[in-house]
Amino acid sequence: MNILGISGSLRVGSTNAQVLQAVARLLPSSAQLTIFDGLDSLPHFSPERDTDNVPEGVRALREAIGQAQAVIICTPEYAFGIPGVLKNALDWCVSTVLFDQKPLAAISASPGYAGGERAMASLLPTLMALNAHIPTGCSLVLSSIRNKMDASGEIIDAGTEQALQRLVNELMAFC
Ligand SMILES: Cc1cc2nc3c(=O)[nH]c(=O)nc-3n(C[C@H](O)[C@H](O)[C@H](O)COP(=O)(O)O)c2cc1C
Repeated sequence: MNILGISGSLRVGSTNAQVLQAVARLLPSSAQLTIFDGLDSLPHFSPERDTDNVPEGVRALREAIGQAQAVIICTPEYAFGIPGVLKNALDWCVSTVLFDQKPLAAISASPGYAGGERAMASLLPTLMALNAHIPTGCSLVLSSIRNKMDASGEIIDAGTEQALQRLVNELMAFC
């Protein structure tokens, strides 16, 4: 089973990308997670290039989503919302049916005490517009994330590890 991971952070050493890697280690052996690495090569969304002259990076994104049985998005919160690069990527999918009923898990990790609560509040309606299917238990806000992983990105907090495992189990059960 192919699972596509999308990190909303372009930062080298991103905690959200590290959470995705931790999720990959929790997947059953029948599933493998590939993290999409082309978010920063997507041009700004333009309706004029949505169906004709579709940019190469957008084609790659759409193909990766199309080939995945499920998607896991893990994103930081920027200015109480989701990063522009992630919203841009999702906008490039609005005219497609790629997310239609696609099982999807949404995670937002932040070093703050509220986690990425407001990013999640902004992400979920966008995913609803795309008609993605978020099974029960497949959205997760992780607060104080830097205290919950070590320098190598290993999750060192048992509660966080369990919450991620539950999310993985729910998503897999749906696939
Ligand atoms: C432009 C910018 C805006 C941010 N806004 C928020 C915010 O609204 N809420 C929050 O909890 N953290 C905010 N942060 C802090 C990020 O959560 C933190 O940098 C986080 O580690 C980014 O995720 P990453 O490690 O995956 O890159 C912001 C960071 C940046 C660079």
